[in-house]
Parts: sequence; C-alpha cells; structure tokens
Amino acid sequence: MNMAQFFYYVQDAPWYFHFLKPVLQILEPLPDNAKILDVGTGAGKLLELGKSQTGFRWEGADTDNEMLSEARKRPALLDTPLHLLIPDTLPFETASFDAVTFCSVLFLIPNPLPLLEETARILRPNGRLVALTPTGEGNISPKIIRQIGLHPQNWTFFLWRQMTSGNGRVWAQKETLAKFARQKNAAYNKQIVFNGLAAVEWIQF
Ligand SMILES: C[S@@+](CC[C@H](N)C(=O)[O-])C[C@H]1O[C@@H](n2cnc3c(N)ncnc32)[C@H](O)[C@@H]1O
Repeated sequence: MNMAQFFYYVQDAPWYFHFLKPVLQILEPLPDNAKILDVGTGAGKLLELGKSQTGFRWEGADTDNEMLSEARKRPALLDTPLHLLIPDTLPFETASFDAVTFCSVLFLIPNPLPLLEETARILRPNGRLVALTPTGEGNISPKIIRQIGLHPQNWTFFLWRQMTSGNGRVWAQKETLAKFARQKNAAYNKQIVFNGLAAVEWIQF
C-alpha cells in the first residue's frame, strides 16, 4: 500500500465524513450549479460527498498524481475533472469558479501566499475560499466517539490527531487567511467545528 492508497483508506473511515461535513455546510448558500474546485483533493472524498449531496459542478486538483489516481477509483468521480497541478499555480481562467476548497492542505504548505493569490484570481466576484484545518486543540471526548461511531477504520482518527496537531496549532497562530482577507478587503469568517478539533475558515471576495 502506498501513501495515496493509505489516504483513500483514511478518507473512507466513518470519522472522516464528520470532519469534512462543515465544508459542505459553508457551501450550502451557493446556487445549484455553482462551480467548485477542491484543491489538494487527495483521494477525492470531498468530491464524492459533494457530488452525492449537492447540485454543484465539482472539479478536483492535486500536485500528487498518485493521489489523483486514487480519486479516479471512486465510481462517483468518473465524469469529474481531476487536474494535476504544478505547485503554486492553478491553471484555470480568471474568474472561473464560485468556490475553491482546501481541506487539510494550506497548513502543510510553507508559503501558501502564491497559491492564495492564484485562488483569488480564479474566483468569480463574490466567490468563496473555504479552508478546513485541524486545530491541534479540543478533546477526544465520549461525545465525539459517539458521533463518529465505533468502526475498525476509525483507528486512523487517532493517528490523524497525532500527526496534525503541531502544524494545526502553528496555522492557527499565523492567522494567514485573516491577514490575506484584510489585504484583499474581503470578509473573513472562522468557525470551530468537529468538537474543537478542526476549524473552517472562509473568505468571501
Ligand atoms: C492531508 S492531504 C488532504 C487531502 C484531502 N483534501 C482531504 O481532506 O482528505 C493533503 C493533500 O494536499 C496535496 N498538496 C500538497 N501541497 C499542495 C499544493 N501546493 N497544491 C495542491 N495540493 C497540494 C497533497 O498531495 C495531498 O493530496
């Protein structure tokens, strides 16, 4: 099993749905048929959920071709455009998407500003950037265990918590998206979700 195949396994664990769900909730006000790009889609779970639960037109992109190969294994994504990216570039027309999502991506990139500039460029006026990031805070309480359910694949939840906490805390301290929004005169919002374990931030341009 390579990393991308392992990531498919992680994304298919029941807990992962509860982690990703807030992103779909933030996108809910968008009109049906809105065009959404999921950057750093990995094995494509958000796309799969989005295609089954929304009327949006989804596309995915990632810098890792092995991840995209895993995403292509999802039957729901047979007709979904999946793009291989060169880091820091988004090879799409200016003002061509209604929303761009980043789930557990921006906090891994040492300097995300070039990618954020590209995102602002490809978003239409009033377009929305949405980022989901582990906080490294919050508790693994009985409540969250009840929420995600008892399932053998949920062991990956504990690994995720262990692996992402450090970068998650650094991301929260830097306030990169709040500063970027100020620089662009755009509205910035943040919600703590998933029992305090994750944050969803969004910028309305
Ligand atoms: C932790 S995974 C998250 C995957 C998926 N978004 C999810 O929520 O499960 C991070 C993904 O971001 C991708 N990635 C890393 N750097 C990137 C960049 N500069 N541009 C686009 N994708 C990137 C990786 O290849 C990987 O698939």
